[in-house]
Amino acid sequence: MEKLVIKGPTPLKGEVVINGAKNAAVAILPATLLIDGICTIDNLPNISDVNICCQILEALGAKITRNGKHSITVDSRNITTTKAPLDLTSKFRASYYVIGAMLSRMGEIEVGMPGGCKLGARPIDQHIKGFEALGAVVDTGKGVISAKADELVGNTIYMDVVSVGATINVMLSAVLAKGTTVIDNAAKEPHIVDVANFLNTMGADIRGAGTDMIKINGVEKLSGGATYSVVPDQIEAGTFMLAAVATKGDLLIKNCITKHLESITAKIIEVGGQVEDFGDSIRVYCDQRPKKASIKTLPYPGFPTDLQPQMGVVLSLADGTSTINESIWESRFQYTDELNKMGAKITAQGKSAFFEGVEKLYGAPVYSTDLRAGAALIIAGTAAEGITEVYNLEHIDRGYEDIEERFRSIGADIKRISE
Ligand code: EPZ
Repeated sequence: MEKLVIKGPTPLKGEVVINGAKNAAVAILPATLLIDGICTIDNLPNISDVNICCQILEALGAKITRNGKHSITVDSRNITTTKAPLDLTSKFRASYYVIGAMLSRMGEIEVGMPGGCKLGARPIDQHIKGFEALGAVVDTGKGVISAKADELVGNTIYMDVVSVGATINVMLSAVLAKGTTVIDNAAKEPHIVDVANFLNTMGADIRGAGTDMIKINGVEKLSGGATYSVVPDQIEAGTFMLAAVATKGDLLIKNCITKHLESITAKIIEVGGQVEDFGDSIRVYCDQRPKKASIKTLPYPGFPTDLQPQMGVVLSLADGTSTINESIWESRFQYTDELNKMGAKITAQGKSAFFEGVEKLYGAPVYSTDLRAGAALIIAGTAAEGITEVYNLEHIDRGYEDIEERFRSIGADIKRISE
């Protein structure tokens, strides 16, 4: 078993370069299954979710060539099976994108029930509603999802909830469908725009990504032949921004799109942090105890649920009582029990949590309950006095590349130990 051992408190200072977005990468890789050709993806984060994604593509017959740490070439000309390995697909959430892509390209697919972070119920009814509207027959019995279509024909789909996954998945299934598909009440996250840009670069005809209505004119074939670079990770950038505030540090965060960070910037300013926006980099610093704030997580462009635990660390140290309302996931406050072990005073009730700010956190052994909870605990350990041990690192490694090296490079006293 591995753990991270962090000795704090340390104000994080220096520069950090943001990697490509995990949640774009894990959609763009399955999207390569739509291409009857070869393409190269650059700026891929080197994380375990991306590695599993590549293994799934290979199991389906795609050939993958690694061009270094952050670039791969995918040759999807020969898809050899429509049964994706159940053990791999049930390991992570984004395996559901294989359904949309393979339905469109091959007319059938079988995958395991998608796994991923345990954040409460994670239904996929909107994905299925979209596939069925295009003419697919979907079965979800016995932990396996199988979908089949003799022909996919464009349709208009109104999403009952704003869903990142369903928006991307229906977009994938519509790319090679006959006619026009309209996704209404679509999600608008930067990674949705990125997936659409990738597909358009490869020959698709998708318009309106980034708005709540996306129109996909089906094309006969995607031929590839191009190179695409994944968008910088909004959530990774936000994680370091909030780390600067929680540790009273000063970070220049490079290779980000600051437009994607506006909801985070606004809250950082509200709690007393300073922000300098340079367009493709952002400086965040804070030399005072954070002030209290109220946060409600919302789909983009609202405050992202994937930064809620990291913001929770800031608010647990704030002067006064703060509240967070989580409107996306049922169960994203599990990290508050861990922060309370470090001296925080947080009461979580259902989808709300109340943070009675404390002056200091103290090191303790803590368990990462999901990916972003893990990031929050690293920030907390860096801000806290004494030694923090963070366990369950497999969650963190799913989504943050070289996390301890990058925290070390900005001053954290952090090491990974195998027991
Ligand atoms: C994506 O999950 C991200 N994962 C999550 O990031 C992120 O928290 C989430 O979007 C919200 O931004 C990936 O991109 C791989 P949703 P996804 O469909 O697509 C409900 C992280 O830490 N819903 O937008 O699974 C659902 O229950 C991870 O990087 C339905 O009711 O989320 C939730 O309440 C964790 N029916 C809401 O919609 C559906 O068919 C939003 O979920 C689909 C979703």
